[in-house]
Amino acid sequence: MNKHEIICTTDDDFAEVAAGILFEAFSKANNPLVSFPTGTTPQDTYKALVQKYEDCRDVWDNLRYLCLDDYAGLPETDERLFKNWLGRELLDPLGIKNRITFNSAATETQAEAQHIQSYLDQHGPVDIMILGLGSNGHLAFNEPGSDFDSATRLVDLTQSTIESNARYWGDDIRRVPRTGYTLGLGDIMKARKVFLLITGAGKADILDKTLNGEITKDIPASILQNHPNLTIIADKSALMKKEDPRYG
Ligand code: PGA
Repeated sequence: MNKHEIICTTDDDFAEVAAGILFEAFSKANNPLVSFPTGTTPQDTYKALVQKYEDCRDVWDNLRYLCLDDYAGLPETDERLFKNWLGRELLDPLGIKNRITFNSAATETQAEAQHIQSYLDQHGPVDIMILGLGSNGHLAFNEPGSDFDSATRLVDLTQSTIESNARYWGDDIRRVPRTGYTLGLGDIMKARKVFLLITGAGKADILDKTLNGEITKDIPASILQNHPNLTIIADKSALMKKEDPRYG
């Protein structure tokens, strides 16, 4: 197992600390290709990035945003699309114009996935990959059972992900699409730098399994144990098992 860095914040200053660390990484990189996650975890971090650093034009003009995952089969203007969610929360306020995204409305889904994979093959790897951790151990839409060398593809979402994502839409499960595009675990593992963001006691168990358990396809995030350049940024609640000596 590679040694990873764990940054433990208080439950209150997670967003502030995470924003500072990410901004420093963006500032030091040259025209970085960056993937951002959606979800509850990074929301306040994105607010902090906007509040504290929106004037840093040179950093934002220098950054290329690459979609991490997104729903398939929706009209391009649909508010549920992750690229539109990220647009509202982060990319528009920061004026990030360089965006490489899935075309959700594409009818040739395999060709659409290949289009993003080709971009990665030519212009990758991802320089700075920021990830959230699913309660079921997924990374992006790489659900349990995903191959560790998987590429960009269309996937069926698991019932647990569909149920979990309904909370963004008034708990209306009918509003959650059943398929999505995702970068594969193979390309996540090729990223030059990975930041994994985790908050809350509800994630303590899956974080512990991810970092200290068996590397298994049942918990896709467990493959990150083999990543050579991983930083975990987590609040105290998510790290409540940290006293365990296996955290090192
Ligand atoms: P969450 O989602 O931040 O809303 O918990 C994380 C994920 O499913 O990747």
